[in-house]
Amino acid sequence: MDASLTLLKDCVVGPVPDTLFGSFVEHLGRAVYTGLYEPGHPKADADGFRSDVIDLVRELRVPLVRYPGGNFLSGYDWRDGIGPREGRPVRLDRAWHSVETNQFGIDEFVDWSRKAGVGVMAGVNMGTGTPQDAADLVEYCNHPGGTAWSDLRVRNGHPEPHGIHWWCVGNEMDGDWQIGHLDAVSYGRKAREAIKLMRWTDASIATVVCGSAGPGMPTWPEWDRIVLEHTYDLADCLSIHRYYENTGNEDDFLAVFRDTDRFIETSVATCDYVKAKVRSKKAMMVSFDEWNVWYQSRWNQGEQERKPWEKAPRLLEDRYTLLDALAFGGMALSLLNHADRVRIACLAQLVNAIAPIVAEPGGPVWRQSTFYPFRDVSLFGRGVALRPLARAPMRETAWGDAPTVAFAAVHDEAAGLLTVFALNTDRAQARRTRIDLSSFGASAMERRTELTGPDLHAVNSVRRPDAVRPAAVRVSRGDRGVYAVTLKPASWNVLRFRTIPAIQPPHSNLP
Ligand code: AHR
Repeated sequence: MDASLTLLKDCVVGPVPDTLFGSFVEHLGRAVYTGLYEPGHPKADADGFRSDVIDLVRELRVPLVRYPGGNFLSGYDWRDGIGPREGRPVRLDRAWHSVETNQFGIDEFVDWSRKAGVGVMAGVNMGTGTPQDAADLVEYCNHPGGTAWSDLRVRNGHPEPHGIHWWCVGNEMDGDWQIGHLDAVSYGRKAREAIKLMRWTDASIATVVCGSAGPGMPTWPEWDRIVLEHTYDLADCLSIHRYYENTGNEDDFLAVFRDTDRFIETSVATCDYVKAKVRSKKAMMVSFDEWNVWYQSRWNQGEQERKPWEKAPRLLEDRYTLLDALAFGGMALSLLNHADRVRIACLAQLVNAIAPIVAEPGGPVWRQSTFYPFRDVSLFGRGVALRPLARAPMRETAWGDAPTVAFAAVHDEAAGLLTVFALNTDRAQARRTRIDLSSFGASAMERRTELTGPDLHAVNSVRRPDAVRPAAVRVSRGDRGVYAVTLKPASWNVLRFRTIPAIQPPHSNLP
C-alpha cells in the first residue's frame, strides 16, 4: 500500500462545532445586490430575496453567515441601512469603489438569514465607527424594547429582537487598505472599550477581535499578541484570515493545507502564550472568518483601478477550477483537524464575490467547483473529529515537507456514521490506501464519491454548470474493518462508513 489511515475511536481531536461551516456575505460587488437581493428577478420572493440562491445556501447547510464586511465594514454606518427604503442615503463605498444604495441593511439581512436557515454573525465598524456606534447597533438588534434604538427596530417592522450572538469587532484593522486602520495598541484599546459597551448592552453576546490580516503582514503575529493582551478577559475568539491562489506551481498549491495547519497552530500558540501571560484559565478560540482560494493578484493587478463609480459592479468574480477545488478541500481538512480550537470558520464568501454560488442577474444560479468540497464537509463533517493516524509518501513543497495524501475524519456516533475525507495531491500517481477502522467494531462502506477529472483547469459556467462535479464510486468491502481503496491522482474523496456498535454481552449477575 502507498498510504494508510488508522482511526481509533478514542483518539479524537474534539467535537466539531457547527459553526465550522459558516460563510460570509459582504457588501462587495454583486454579493448582496443581484446576489441575495434582486427584486424583480423571476425567482425573487416578496422581500426581493432570490429563492434560487436560498435553495443553494440551504443545500450547503451553512449554519452562520458573517455580515456586512470585510473592508466594507470599516466605512459603514449601519444607520444608513435601516428604516423606509426611500429615505435611505446613497453613499460612496470607498472600500470597494462602488455606489452603495443602502436598500439592504441589517434588518433585511436578518430576514434573509431566517429564510435561508442560517445564523447571523454581525460586525461593528472599528474604522470610522466608535464604541458608542457599536453598542447602539447591539441595542438596536438585541434589546427587547422601550429604548430609542430598540423601539426604532420595532417601528421598522421587527417587534422581536434579532438575538444576534456573535459579533466581530472590526475587520483586518492592521491593514493599511482598511478605512481607519490602526496600530495594535490603538486597536486593542478601542476594541476593549467597544466590547465593554456592547456587553453592557447585552451580556449574552460573544465577540471576536481582529487578529492580523494574515501571515504575510509584517505585523503578524505580534499584532495578535498585543490585541489579545488588551482584550483577553472580554473576547471569545481571535479572528484570522487566509487566502491562497495558484501562482504556477501546482504541487505547492495542492499542498496549501500544510500552511493552513501551521497558520492555525501559530495563532493558537499566540493565544496560549497570552493566556499564560495574563494568568487566564480561559482558552481563547480562533474564528477563521475568512478562508478561501482568491486570485488576489488579479485584483492587485488592476481590477480596482477602474472605473466609474457603479452600483453592484462585477468585482472579485473568480471562476474556480477543479484544481482550486482540490486546494480548497485541503484547507477544509485543516479546519476539521483543528476543530478543538477553531470555533468558527467562514468561507469567504458565499455568493458571486469569490464564492461557491454564482447568481446571474436576471438569470440562473450555478455551483462553482468549490461548492462540492464545502458541501461535503458541511454535510458529513458533523460529529467528533478523529485524529488521523496517517502515513503517505512525503514531498518537498513551498510550505515544507507535506504528505501527498491528506486526511480528516469525523464520527457521528449517534447516527452510526463515520466519514473519511482524503485528498490525493499527487497529480501523476494514484495512491493505494489502507483504511483501518477495526477499532470501531463492525463497519461497512456505504457510499463513496470523488471529485477529479482529466482537466485540472476545468471550470463550471452558466453554459456548462456541471463540468466539475463529484461522481459516485463503487464501494469496497472491508475485511474486519480494514479497507483497501485507490485514490485517483489529484482527487478529493469522501468515504462514508456505517459503524455498527459492538454488541454488548448480555448482562450477567455472576460475580
Ligand atoms: O473577502 C474579501 C476581502 O478580503 C475582505 O473584505 C477583507 O476582509 C479581506 O481582505
